[in-house]
Amino acid sequence: MKGTFPLDKFRDLRTPFYYYDVQLLRDTLNAIKVESARCGRCVVHYAVKANANPKVLSIIRESGLGADCVSGGEIQAALKAGFPPEKIVFAGVGKADWEINLALDYDICCFNVESVPELEVINQLAHDKGKKARVAFRINPDVGAHTHANITTGLAENKFGIRMEDMDYVIDLAGSMQNVEFIGLHFHIGSQILDMGDFVALCNRINELQDHLEARLLRIPYINVGGGLGIDYAHPNRQPIPDFKSYFATWHTHLKLRSWQTLHFEPGRAVVGQCGSLISRVLYVKQGANKQFAILDAGMTDLIRPALYQAYHKIENLSSEEPVQAYDVVGPVCESSDVFGKAVDLNTVHRGDLVALRSAGAYGEIMASGYNCRELPQGYTSDEFL
Ligand SMILES: Cc1ncc(COP(=O)(O)O)c(C=O)c1O
Repeated sequence: MKGTFPLDKFRDLRTPFYYYDVQLLRDTLNAIKVESARCGRCVVHYAVKANANPKVLSIIRESGLGADCVSGGEIQAALKAGFPPEKIVFAGVGKADWEINLALDYDICCFNVESVPELEVINQLAHDKGKKARVAFRINPDVGAHTHANITTGLAENKFGIRMEDMDYVIDLAGSMQNVEFIGLHFHIGSQILDMGDFVALCNRINELQDHLEARLLRIPYINVGGGLGIDYAHPNRQPIPDFKSYFATWHTHLKLRSWQTLHFEPGRAVVGQCGSLISRVLYVKQGANKQFAILDAGMTDLIRPALYQAYHKIENLSSEEPVQAYDVVGPVCESSDVFGKAVDLNTVHRGDLVALRSAGAYGEIMASGYNCRELPQGYTSDEFL
């Protein structure tokens, strides 16, 4: 089954472009609201890195979510979209001084701190402003996620977070500093996680660490478990809204949250992944030695995930119902990795056909580049076509 798109409205638009189904986005946000309520006291911060299209951001902000940012630019985008500073968290291994100062000026909810040198700089910059920064430590829990190697982040070998062995030391260090307040722990083990067992493993690790802190008579109000819930790339129409019920139930069941704690989440892909498609036009159908190519006007500059992670996106020919044939679907960029899919079954393709690359709402438009001096793709929301 193909997705439904307002094809008559697409006909005169310059391709490629991103198209966001606002109804699906709103339904997804509603599911998050309903299911997260079962977790007790929690705040869901949308991971802005997944998609910072201003129209998408403002719909997410309207739903009441907070924002998880990893750069000063993301903090500015979140503020511009109207996210309240007290619902903004700031992570990242390399926070520049101007970015820390920006976050201090707006008194954001929390810095998710990833190293001792970073903690020292935050303390110094907060001192210069006569402020006290709330900090949580991103702990590397050494929990593997069953996902692509490039998007697993919680193993000891990854660059992210503070080693568990160093946790006591950094907590004590923060306690000795005048301008930071240690409020809790942050974790993020990876992305596109579909096996709830991975999250259970993280819950177990957090429970151990919490028992340890309690034995030290430390009472922390903030536990942040990051993002990572995956989506069904193979079947975008089968369950367009991810299984938030199982996801939030997993935390509710396995994490021993204390009555004085608030649980924070940072989903990105699961919020916006399925509502977005990259719409492209077929430039040429080319016969190869033993295959045929459908050459699109969209390339890896518009959607880099297949080239970067060998990621799969379902591809549909929106303009044809003719018999299915196999094509290698490629872009125009001068790189051999500019391939969206090999031996893809598509209704017979002709020059000028419109093609949808589905499930492209997350890590799509935001990762677009101008390589080959190509223009960045536009992003449209479905309500612009009503
Ligand atoms: C710290 C942190 N939080 C949240 C996310 C969002 O992850 P996802 O889009 O898989 O939910 C990421 C993604 O890299 C991250 O690094």
